[in-house]
Amino acid sequence: MSSPDGTTADLLFVGASQVVTCAGPARARVGAELRDATTQVGVAVAVAGETIVAVGPQDELERRWPDVERVECGGRLLTPGLVDSHTHAVFGRARYEEQELRALGADYMEIARRGGGIHSSVRDLRERSEAELFQLARDRLTRLAASGVTTVEVKSGYGLSLDAELRTLRVVQRLASELPLRIVPTFLGAHEIPLEYRARPDGRAEYLQLLIDEMIPAVAGSRLARFADVFCETGVYTPAESRAILSAAREAGMLLKLHADELTSSGGAELAGDLGAVSADHLAAVSETGIAALAAAGTVATLLPGTMLFLGKATQAPARALIEAGVPVALATDFNPGTSPTVNFPLILTLAVSQLRLSVSEAFLAATVNGAAALALAHRVGQLAPGFSADLALWDAEDLRELPYWYGDRRCVSSWTRGKTCHC
Ligand code: NIG
Ligand code: FE
Repeated sequence: MSSPDGTTADLLFVGASQVVTCAGPARARVGAELRDATTQVGVAVAVAGETIVAVGPQDELERRWPDVERVECGGRLLTPGLVDSHTHAVFGRARYEEQELRALGADYMEIARRGGGIHSSVRDLRERSEAELFQLARDRLTRLAASGVTTVEVKSGYGLSLDAELRTLRVVQRLASELPLRIVPTFLGAHEIPLEYRARPDGRAEYLQLLIDEMIPAVAGSRLARFADVFCETGVYTPAESRAILSAAREAGMLLKLHADELTSSGGAELAGDLGAVSADHLAAVSETGIAALAAAGTVATLLPGTMLFLGKATQAPARALIEAGVPVALATDFNPGTSPTVNFPLILTLAVSQLRLSVSEAFLAATVNGAAALALAHRVGQLAPGFSADLALWDAEDLRELPYWYGDRRCVSSWTRGKTCHC
């Protein structure tokens, strides 16, 4: 349907109580830019195909496109869809037994040293077919979409062999083509050192060579991952090993992420900044120099407060210090079977406000624009503004502050990705 000025639209979102646009520069927001997520009243959103073409006074847009199909928002809250920039959504069985072990005193890394943790998910995934993994992940991502997420990053990392990692990434590719969500794939072949390599004297170096000489070229060559990631942590990959792996990935054309300073401070954030990684994730134990390195590089700090909560840790990433230092902060679920089995992104908003001490605007921009920046998608995703993808979420709420407030609840009524229904 064309307006008198010739612009076409085929969908008009009308009647929202508030439209939170997050409109502004198409890049990660820092410092005071995070203070205002931009709430508008009496505003409609016009969409043509996959793209937003106008956000403006409802009466004006209704005059411009009198006969276009409408989505009646019924006095509810309309926002950009949430961007979950860190998940490990392709896995087999759940690992609920470990939660109880931790409650009884076992530590996360101690469970891993005994062959549990990531190793247990690796044993399990290797025995499953692609079809089975696809079905499990499809159902879990459908639940994530029901919580208001329209873009999600999905990592491999429970295969840890050339074959099992490629199988995982093919599952992610199929999910991207069959689900209405926008899905961004990440290669995390360096999630652990597989037990069969740990058991041999030179095994560690051998697995590193396998990653660099075979796995990264195969993944890059088949274009199965946009990002590469490493679990840089005491007892897993050292900063020197992480640097070697990520440098090879960068040369192969992949963008970089890093699991950095999750449980101990091992120089992960410093490395992420030095390599110009797009994001450094976790950061509960980040050092002062790490914060400075992220700020200097403009690397997005992706905070995952659900992980620390679920592990029963009393600490959280120093979100306020990161924001004050000018680091762009994003939020994500870290959805995975070991440390964060939640598909409820609004719950992460609650934790961001209550535990990380973010304002509601800071938390919401971290979950939208800055999540998009953590996926190198800030030019297309994360805000309601002309030229951006029509990725929207409609909430059973009147005010943005209700999203972190009704904690644990699921208030997303419907969502759209690229102008098409994502969840209803
Ligand atoms: O982000 N830290 C490494 N990876 C995941 C946990 C994976 C697992 O325990 O299965 C995380 O916390
Ligand atoms: Fe993770």
